[in-house]
Amino acid sequence: MRILGIETSCDETSLALLNLNRGKLKIESIIISSQTKLHARLGGVVPELAARRHNETIVPLLHDALNQAKVKPSQIDLMAVTSGPGLITALQVGVETAKTLAAAWHKPLLGINHIEGHLVSPFLSPTNWPLVSKASTWPAVALVISGGHTELYLMRSLGQRKFLGKTLDDAAGEAFDKVAKMLKLPYPGGPQVAKLALQGNKQAFTFPRPLLKNNDYNFSFSGLKTAVLYTLQKYQTAQITTKLKADICASFQQASLDVLINKTLRAAKQYKARSIIVSGGVSANQALRQELTKQVKIDMPNVKLFFPELSFTGDNAAMIALAAAIKIKNFKPNKLIKSWQKLQANANWELWN
Ligand code: KG4
Ligand code: ZN
Repeated sequence: MRILGIETSCDETSLALLNLNRGKLKIESIIISSQTKLHARLGGVVPELAARRHNETIVPLLHDALNQAKVKPSQIDLMAVTSGPGLITALQVGVETAKTLAAAWHKPLLGINHIEGHLVSPFLSPTNWPLVSKASTWPAVALVISGGHTELYLMRSLGQRKFLGKTLDDAAGEAFDKVAKMLKLPYPGGPQVAKLALQGNKQAFTFPRPLLKNNDYNFSFSGLKTAVLYTLQKYQTAQITTKLKADICASFQQASLDVLINKTLRAAKQYKARSIIVSGGVSANQALRQELTKQVKIDMPNVKLFFPELSFTGDNAAMIALAAAIKIKNFKPNKLIKSWQKLQANANWELWN
């Protein structure tokens, strides 16, 4: 089965062709066109500009994806598009383009939840993919950490999940981005905070670890972000040196990671997980990867740890195509041939609901 994936939920226009043949997974093409430069000048994603840029680029990028894979539209079996959650103006570009193509090409089309895409993204790697079908991989505890979401799930297989908890306010990535803004670091902030944290002392400031001791699996990052703001307000502008910024970044990052790691490990223990799966933009964070790997080795040495390849931590269409493949068990294209007619973008489509 060959799937064309389309992703435009935020500030990446992405198209991918994924081939799943007799259990073998091949990414035949992947295009990720980032709008970072466009939004950097304005310090954050401007939905209207994002949608306009998606509109300008999506058709040429579709051609690139088909050319890269040397595939003709007639060779596509299924189409998959992110239909929520995300910025409505941005989502609509992907969804309406996908609907037009599905109608013109007579292809079945599935609307995919963006978070469902992130959840499966670690299995886009050729080494991880074969482990999906192994009983020894499941159950797994899955942490999704992106710019808009922080959610924890229990997964019995790649397609079966139970919601465990989520952030009650800001997402982890959002907190990284807001702290970066307070420190006047360039956009996008998360990677900048992580970079500066490398030079800082993570014990310089004792920031709160919100909800760390609560028994549930919910998170909260807005109090931590405010604690950073109050700390900064104690200093005159001239005193806010790179050294101070680095210490704040390191201390803030450590507080965030302590909560994320502690809760994930606790869930893994409670549900006797055989794997821990981490995905979303923040899963690119090297300190998180190192610390979680270290703690799993000490605490639960038999538990497997899955991260996406770095190129698939952020938004991409390959994960959307894979999520569609997993959703569709007994593929009957004729039954889905008119599925495009009912598809609508839904900015508030939450997976945990
Ligand atoms: O999954 P993603 O690309 O987009 C959303 O679905 O939101 O996640 C983007 C988020 C941003 O908040 C960005 O600052 C954060 O991921 N991020 C990082 C790192 N790289 C990206 N946060 C911390 N450390 C990083 N290395
Ligand atoms: Zn995302």
